[in-house]
Amino acid sequence: MESSDHRPANVLRHPSLPEDAGFETICAHWAEDRGAQRGAAAPPIYQTSTFVYPDAEAFEQRLTPASPNYDYTRVGNPTTAVLEQKLAKLERGSWCRCFASGMGAVSAAINACVKSGSHVVAVAHCYWPTRRYLRDYLSRFGVSTTFVDGCDPADFVAAFRSETELLMLESPTTGHFEVPEIEPIARAAGARGVTVLFDNSWATPYFLRPLELGCDLVVHSASKYIGGHSDLVAGALVGRDDELLARVGPEVELLGATLDPFAAWLLIRGLRTLGVRMEYHQKSALAVARMLEEHRGVECVNHPGLESHPQHAVAARQLEGYSSLFSFRPKEQSREAVHRILNRLRLFSIGVSWGGHESLAIGGTMFNLDPKDPGRIIRLHVGLESTGDLIADLRHALEI
Ligand SMILES: Cc1ncc(COP(=O)(O)O)c(C=O)c1O
Repeated sequence: MESSDHRPANVLRHPSLPEDAGFETICAHWAEDRGAQRGAAAPPIYQTSTFVYPDAEAFEQRLTPASPNYDYTRVGNPTTAVLEQKLAKLERGSWCRCFASGMGAVSAAINACVKSGSHVVAVAHCYWPTRRYLRDYLSRFGVSTTFVDGCDPADFVAAFRSETELLMLESPTTGHFEVPEIEPIARAAGARGVTVLFDNSWATPYFLRPLELGCDLVVHSASKYIGGHSDLVAGALVGRDDELLARVGPEVELLGATLDPFAAWLLIRGLRTLGVRMEYHQKSALAVARMLEEHRGVECVNHPGLESHPQHAVAARQLEGYSSLFSFRPKEQSREAVHRILNRLRLFSIGVSWGGHESLAIGGTMFNLDPKDPGRIIRLHVGLESTGDLIADLRHALEI
């Protein structure tokens, strides 16, 4: 066995990459060492549970600072490490840990920041299972949460208490597409010693880097745009400070929601095209949203990139672009009318999730996007099909 087979993650590095490499270059090359990969253009998949050592002394030494090797894939794996280093670099963080799902990453991040008696402040319309985790699950362990409705930074500040340990932000929210201004809220939290966790699944690091705006942790459902092909479920957590990594470590090791090395490899492949995909998603979704805004069968469109969106000015300042998940409200608002529109769609499939190559639509009673007003909003994910075909599909569906 060659010594390079046990190379630690922190030396797996493309030899000629500058520290300030651009987004696409990081996606293409960061953390990959073609020499160690025997010249392979794609990194190997270390599809193994355990790592073996040549002798007892080497095993004893395996996790010392001088030799930070791998011993068991639940705790670390070289293929996953390539992905983790790329994501940390893209988000401008100092570390990343990947998980078996976005919720694995969300729950690990929250657990790392709270203890019995802690208080959490969270956006009211965050991803529904995140809300349930905070409200129903953690309340069993003495953690309470105040959910803040709307986007006014003053409302977030007013919710802080002396025992507040965590602020959970998500923007835009994926049902209401609200865009609170991150920087003043994160600054106010930081001044009180409150850790700020941000769900960046919608924008991806291509359009938004929350750590640069004062957040401490960024979480992703990598099942969405990062994977990009609707063929895996995964999560990622990126942080900017090693003290937080020390707190996240036990969540990885003890709860064990570990990403499989093959899924890590698929995510490395997904990252190669993240930038070009996001550009296409943005362009196509804006064209679809503008068509809908003009359509006589549509009452309003909730897309932060449209001038009509209530927080468009904040979105335009804060984001470097827009992804392709948004919603619209048809003029005819009965449950039957919404179902009729959905059932007339041919290219948009009816289904949850987003971020893949295929266009998706949900609404009606299938997905509770708006608890106050169920069944009247249709949420669209604009995929990578030809924009004209998607527009034609929606026009056809709306002509009732
Ligand atoms: C905004 C957001 N965050 C987190 C998650 C959870 O991710 P996963 O489904 O990969 O567990 C989702 C899933 O839809 C989501 O929409």
